[in-house]
Amino acid sequence: MQTIIEPFKIKSVEPIRMTTRDERERILREASFNVFKVAARDVIIDLLTDSGTGAMSSEQWAAMMRADEAYAGADSYYRFRDSVREITGFDHILPTHQGRASERILFRLVGKPGLVIPNNAHFDTTRANVEDSGAEAVDLPIEEAKNSSSSHPFKGNMNIAALEALIDRVGADRIPLVMVTVTNNSGGGQPVSLENLRAVRKVCDRHRLPLFLDACRFAENAWFIRKRAPGQQDRTVREIVREMFDLADGATISAKKDGLVNIGGVLLMRDDALFQNASTTLILTEGFVTYGGLAGRDLDAMAQGFQEVVEHDYLSYRVRSTEYLGMKLLEAGIQIVEPPGGHAIFIDAGHFCPHIPAEQFPGQAVACGLYRYGGIRASEIGSVMFGGEGRPAPNMELVRLAIPRRTYTQSHVDYVVEATIELFKDRESLKGLKIIEQPPSLRHFQARFAEI
Ligand code: F0G
Repeated sequence: MQTIIEPFKIKSVEPIRMTTRDERERILREASFNVFKVAARDVIIDLLTDSGTGAMSSEQWAAMMRADEAYAGADSYYRFRDSVREITGFDHILPTHQGRASERILFRLVGKPGLVIPNNAHFDTTRANVEDSGAEAVDLPIEEAKNSSSSHPFKGNMNIAALEALIDRVGADRIPLVMVTVTNNSGGGQPVSLENLRAVRKVCDRHRLPLFLDACRFAENAWFIRKRAPGQQDRTVREIVREMFDLADGATISAKKDGLVNIGGVLLMRDDALFQNASTTLILTEGFVTYGGLAGRDLDAMAQGFQEVVEHDYLSYRVRSTEYLGMKLLEAGIQIVEPPGGHAIFIDAGHFCPHIPAEQFPGQAVACGLYRYGGIRASEIGSVMFGGEGRPAPNMELVRLAIPRRTYTQSHVDYVVEATIELFKDRESLKGLKIIEQPPSLRHFQARFAEI
């Protein structure tokens, strides 16, 4: 069968408020052409992020009702710990309120000025936490990742030669750990192969360096391995996930992605001394080690979510649905980062509107156009997000259509396809933008724009 169907039925619905083109034009102007400033009730399809925006299952809601809210040693904690242990094989498991809290604790303990953290591509909060510790964050993607039309099956891979060269240049004693982000969000939601993880592990072993995963989308990464790597087709996602984690000495996880929850995170490690220190820091900044800043019900939702996310029916639908969106856009002549990623489709805005130069933010123009045409909210990942005084121009001007998990139906996806193609046909009407007001950092959230 070709038709993609959601492997779930809908028991509870949340209405979407429809808006007219005229209304959206007014709203966009009031928001100073920044969709972060648009109220969610004025958005028809919200593709701003796949983080914490997914729908929970009936089993997760049931688990939340059963939750135990004891401060220390709650049943919910043990269910969470056992579930994460079963999936990842780690013994030292700390709950946190989200991914960046895990990052904050980790880099507060291992980072300091003079040190360097290599990653295939740091997500922005990971980079910010590394830099906040005083250490330097270095991205080491493979060459193919810089070209949107390259269809390398594992475009999220780390550049092994570049990793070796970095270690030679700065010295292993200045590298507290190597990190690999699975899947690579900033690089288009692209997976990392098992082969590449094993190669990174080898380099780490040779230099006695710990390897940590930024494992927000570990299940999607494992699904891609199962689909694309020779000899992996007969394995279960659980087996592949386990092998990925077995290669690592630790991991930070935002459970708002592949934990299938609205809030929650995990910090994993093998080293006893690091675990002791992380536990102390957790108590200082998040909460006691058996709840980490969460309610018992959040821990139970995670315990169940981590079990559901590795189901093949779910992952097959998830990745095919995102791929369907990407292929429809490609067929219409819209360049996206190929091949389609797991959690998002990244439109190449430089290609979409070549008449808008990078200094006039083509990605922002496309994001505004998507809102005008379809009430669709997407985020710019280009010169608005990464640019600014003294910062190098990014490689690509992208717009990310991030797909919340189990939230929108295939007809919503068809609607996004239709609106994006309509906009593409009328792309000459898109105008460049200029910034009229911006905060000193993380300007994409707050900046105000005007059309040129
Ligand atoms: N690492 C990666 C690869 C991420 O994509 C994110 C979040 C984080 C860490 C931080 O996790 O939000 O729970 O603190 N990504 C979201 C996104 C925000 O929209 O891509 P968090």
